[in-house]
Formats: sequence, structure tokens, C-alpha cells
Amino acid sequence: MYLGSAAQLSGVHSHSGSFERLAVSEGKVKVGIIGSQFEGDIHAASFQLAREGAAVVAVASPTPGNAAALAKKYGIPRVFTDYREMLKERDIEMITVAAPNYLHAQMTLDIARAGKHVVCEKPLCMTIEEGEEMLHVTRQAGVLLMYAEELFFTPKYLKAKEMADDGAFGKVHLIKQSEKHFGPHSAWFWDVERSGGGALMDLGCHGIAFCYWFLGRPEIQTVYCQMGTYVHGDKTRGDDDTLCILEFANGAVGMVENSWGRRGGMDDRIEVFGSEGVTYANLHMGNALPTYSEKGYGYAVEKAPSTKGWSYPVFEELWNYGLPQEMAHFARCVRGKEKPQATGEDGLVVMKALYAGYASAGEGRKVQMPLSAKEIQRPIDLWFRGPEYRPAQKR
Ligand SMILES: NC(=O)c1ccc[n+]([C@@H]2O[C@H](COP(=O)([O-])OP(=O)(O)OC[C@H]3O[C@@H](n4cnc5c(N)ncnc54)[C@H](O)[C@@H]3O)[C@@H](O)[C@H]2O)c1
Repeated sequence: MYLGSAAQLSGVHSHSGSFERLAVSEGKVKVGIIGSQFEGDIHAASFQLAREGAAVVAVASPTPGNAAALAKKYGIPRVFTDYREMLKERDIEMITVAAPNYLHAQMTLDIARAGKHVVCEKPLCMTIEEGEEMLHVTRQAGVLLMYAEELFFTPKYLKAKEMADDGAFGKVHLIKQSEKHFGPHSAWFWDVERSGGGALMDLGCHGIAFCYWFLGRPEIQTVYCQMGTYVHGDKTRGDDDTLCILEFANGAVGMVENSWGRRGGMDDRIEVFGSEGVTYANLHMGNALPTYSEKGYGYAVEKAPSTKGWSYPVFEELWNYGLPQEMAHFARCVRGKEKPQATGEDGLVVMKALYAGYASAGEGRKVQMPLSAKEIQRPIDLWFRGPEYRPAQKR
């Protein structure tokens, strides 16, 4: 087992509140990635693009050969099939979780108890209780719980927020975010036991987080959601098309649209409406080259089914999403140079709104927050249980 140099190791490994000492350590933050497929690859590529600040030194993934293949692609020196073995590597300071949703909570607890900082993919976890425990245990361990919501770092969307904060649109009363494609790439997303829900859980978590962050994190007061399984009933019990309306304490409304039934590759956009102005941003168009090809070519954009005929290949895709910027920021947070801009607390706010969204769809009415739904295991159960379920509510 490689243990790193004495300088790297000093003060890094206590399980009891070593964060102050961690924060002043120097050099590149040593990172381990859990997961080696879609998002694990994106994490590795993003750290490589971010260059300064962090170095991925290990990857863990259970399927034999997969972690090794990712390691080969990105020059990652250490490979594990059991992430718990990777957590024993004393010099690793930060672990990113790019594994299926149902594993986020347990992995986060294990990482925190090993004294390492956590970057957890979205959605934060499967239940509110899990999220609360993740916050509690990471706080107790003195490590950071950072939430990988890249829309907080997406350059086009950041520009819109900067303008809004500068007063360009006057008082913002409506903000829309939508993310749509034809459905995820791995089987576990479609299985609500492992994903916790469908398109709202998978994509709506981005939109809810975005509206909340864009407006300056006002309390979410009500949620109304319409959803159905319109296109993929043969392979999932989850929702594949959702409309979600959020009312915020500052009087603004958020409208979040998501779909796993939209043909033609990824679509991600925002609209911002205020008393003095408006802005629209389409994440892919404007960063794409309208292209026609009889033969097709290698790669156009995330989830594009084909490159034959008309397609819209993007350039600098990860940078346009904000992913290298996000990972570089998280590394600076570990060095104590910046304060996390996307936190476990943000993830938990989103999780509570997701519960309210599924409850609203189940009941066919607007639901007031906070929602007390502790007895329900997964958000999507609130939809399945339908109108007979009456959650306890208080304002
Ligand atoms: N931020 C984004 O835009 C974005 C995009 C895609 C996925 N994600 C999130 O990233 C996470 C992973 O999704 P994905 O698309 O990479 O899924 P995937 O199916 O492509 O990959 C999942 C990975 O997790 C690994 N894994 C499964 N069980 C494991 C275990 N017990 N220990 C360690 N690793 C294990 C698998 O081997 C695989 O490498 C999900 O939570 C998903 O919501 C986020």
C-alpha cells in the first residue's frame, strides 16, 4: 500500500476534527473517485482539465477491469475493486462519489469516517433521513460535504445570475430551468429501488437546485408537480416527464421541466423574467456547430443518438457545463482557500423539494413545505401512494 510522503501525511488522518489542520496542508489535493463509468469518467476528465489544485490518484469500482480501464485512460496510479480499501489510503484527502443514488449515503458515511472530504453526486441521496445523517456525520468528522451540482458553475448560467444580481432584470419573478433527453444510459436509473425516482429525481434535482441558488436561496414554500410515465412504461415505474412549479419565500416562482422522453440528445436551458428585463440561455445551442453529415462522425453531444443527418456537436463540453471549474473549486475548498458554493445543505433542500414534488403529483394538488414524510422510504412512493396519502404539514 502506498502511503505518501511524511509531509503529505502530517495531520491529515485523524478521524476527530482534523479539518483545521487539513485546510492548511499544501500541494495538490489527492483525490479518489468511486465509480468508473459515465460520471466517474467525467470526474476524471474534469480534474485533468482543471489541472491545478488536484490530482486523481485512485479509482474504485466493483466490476473487474472497469476501474483499471479508467485508470489507464487518465493515468490514475491506484485501482481498487472495493472502495473501502481505497479509503484506507492515508494520503487521499477527497473522494468523489460517482456511483448509483442508493449508494450515496453509505459511501458518504464511510468516507467521512475515514477522515476524507466528500464530493457527492446529485441527487444527494435517496431519503431525507439519509441526507440528515450525511450532514450530521460529515460535520462530526470535521470533513466537507460538497454537492456536485454543476449548474452552479455553468458559465452561461453564471453569467445570467451575475446579471440578475447586478439588477439587470429588476425584480425577478419567474425563473425556468429545463433538462430533457431520451433517458439515462444505465439500468439502475430506471429501477426506482436504486434511483429513488424517475426524471424528477434524476433531472429535477438540477432544476430545483438551480432556481433556489439563482434566487439567492430563499425558502421553498410550495411545490406543485404534474408527472407521468408516458414513453418508457415498458422499462420503468418511474416518471419520465414532469412539470414542477415552486413558490419561493421572496415571491418568485420557479418552473422546472424535465423529460426522459425527449428525442434528439440533451437539451438544457433557462429563462429568467424580471420587472426590468429577461434573459434566455440554451446550454448547448450557441456552443454548437449546426452540422449535416451523410456518414456521421464520432461524437456530437451527451446522449445524442446519432451523428448522421443534422446534428449539433458542441465544443469544450465539460467546460461549458462547468465541471472542471466545479472540481477545481472543491479542491480549493479542501485547501481552505474557498468556501463551498454547493453543499450537502443545498442537496438536502433539493431532496425535501423532490419529496414535495412527488407528494404533489400523488395528491394532484399544490403541497406546502416543509413536508413531513419520514415514514415514506423513497420520494417516488409519495406518487405511487396517490391521493389516499395525506402527509402531515406545517407552515
Ligand atoms: N451531475 C450530473 O450531471 C450527472 C450526470 C450523470 C450522472 N450523475 C450522477 O452520478 C452518479 C453515477 O451515475 P453514472 O451515470 O456514472 O452511472 P453509471 O451506471 O454510468 O456508473 C455507475 C458506477 O458506479 C459503480 N458502482 C456501482 N456499485 C458500486 C459499489 N458498490 N461501489 C463502488 N462503485 C460502484 C459502477 O461500477 C459504475 O462504475 C449518479 O448518482 C448520477 O445521478 C450526475
